[in-house]
Amino acid sequence: MKRTKLVTKSGLAIALATGLAVGLSAPCRADDTAKVYADNCASCHGPQGKGDGPAAAALTPPPGSFAQSIAGKSDDWIFKGIKEGGPGVGKAPSMPPYAGTLSDDQIKAMVAYVKQLQK
Ligand code: HEC
Repeated sequence: MKRTKLVTKSGLAIALATGLAVGLSAPCRADDTAKVYADNCASCHGPQGKGDGPAAAALTPPPGSFAQSIAGKSDDWIFKGIKEGGPGVGKAPSMPPYAGTLSDDQIKAMVAYVKQLQK
């Protein structure tokens, strides 16, 4: 009797832990820009913008950490880099253009998003 109770309890704990892990790894629906970043940018730039996404190592040059790469850059510069891709701001084409993928408003929100990733 006692044993059954224990098993049930740990089963519940596992179910709860799994649910929590799934909930945490799913992109936050409340913040669209975070989801756009996770879907479009994190593969190269990494979840925190440190340049450590899974695709980063295969790129020449690889992305740097936003903490250094956008330090002192204007919003317009960052906007252009995202919209036109690396060559738009004198960087490598390994940074793709998002003009056809994201609207100007989405790119504007992304500028603010990558700036707060610097911290
Ligand atoms: C295919 C990989 C890849 C993807 C996807 C990608 N980037 Fe980049 N990005 C790069 C690389 C590589 C550079 C640096 C190029 C260089 O140093 O010449 C870069 C540069 C940048 C820069 C200029 C500052 C810097 O770090 O050098 C910004 C801003 C930027 N990316 C934002 C974004 C945003 C926002 C997204 C998603 C909407 C995104 N990138 C998607 C690879 C990528």
